[in-house]
Amino acid sequence: MAHHKIECRGLFKHFGEGPRRVTALQDVDLAIADNEFVTLVGASGCGKSTLLRTLAGLEQRSQGEVLVDGRPVFAPGPERAMVFQHYSLYPWLSVIGNIKFSRQLAWQARDRSSSDVEAAAGRADALLRLMGLSASAQAYPSQLSGGMQQRVAIARALMSRPQILLMDEPFGALDAQTREVMHDLILHVHRLERTTVVFVTHDVEEALYLGHRVVLMAPRPGRVDTIYEVPLPARREQRMKLAPEFLALKGRILERIRETSGMKTDLEQLERLTRAAEGAKESTT
Ligand SMILES: Nc1ncnc2c1ncn2[C@@H]1O[C@H](COP(=O)(O)OP(=O)(O)OP(=O)(O)O)[C@@H](O)[C@H]1O
Ligand SMILES: [Mg+2]
Repeated sequence: MAHHKIECRGLFKHFGEGPRRVTALQDVDLAIADNEFVTLVGASGCGKSTLLRTLAGLEQRSQGEVLVDGRPVFAPGPERAMVFQHYSLYPWLSVIGNIKFSRQLAWQARDRSSSDVEAAAGRADALLRLMGLSASAQAYPSQLSGGMQQRVAIARALMSRPQILLMDEPFGALDAQTREVMHDLILHVHRLERTTVVFVTHDVEEALYLGHRVVLMAPRPGRVDTIYEVPLPARREQRMKLAPEFLALKGRILERIRETSGMKTDLEQLERLTRAAEGAKESTT
């Protein structure tokens, strides 16, 4: 019986061999419930993308297990869709063409009848409306803003009705205002489609606003450091970002990222050097 939508057990991932071997994931245990929204944060190089790619089946694990609905997965599958930071649209296809031409759908193409094709066209139109792209259906990616391109990429990922949406810094290249709109849009999609979401970000505020839980990873070796429950109501509103418990947890997570990244010791050393240099200057004048 499957208790979790996704489960990692004793997951290891090494890159390279011998003295140059990098452990991108060390003994990761993580269980994610159906319809949960989990965000991954942590210093650069802590293995966030590697973990996501391993869940997607784009990366082979060195050791351990990845289970979806209790079954081990080794390769990509139509129940998991991925959205990347860079929009990765086909420039020669229109918006609607991009949405319909999904790699996931290729899996299901083998035994499709004409009514399936019709249903797919209806789904593409519904997703266009959901993403506020109806007026741009015939436009080409180069004619769209970054935010609109990313909406197309999300619509395309949703086309095959994935149960799991894996997102790697999907809004990383967007400006702050567009990003806020995208946050509420993705929460709406999550409620409507009842997907399970694993979302990687550098932005702690984004991680807290979107996530039910925030998984903080630490680098060298890449591992899970702390898992935080987000103390906010399920239905998020922008004003919650100003709540004292939101700000307090944001502060704690940022502090912990600094501690685990090695940046803190770098900063402290820099401060000591600066003080020493200033002291030396004063004693000579
Ligand atoms: N294909 C690869 N070959 C060799 N090393 C790799 C490869 N992919 C990732 N790594 C290494 O694995 C570690 C984790 O990388 P990963 O990209 O998962 O980190 P990340 O947390 O996503 O970082 P960022 O926040 O910068 O995107 C890093 O040390 C990285 O150099
Ligand atoms: Mg990454």
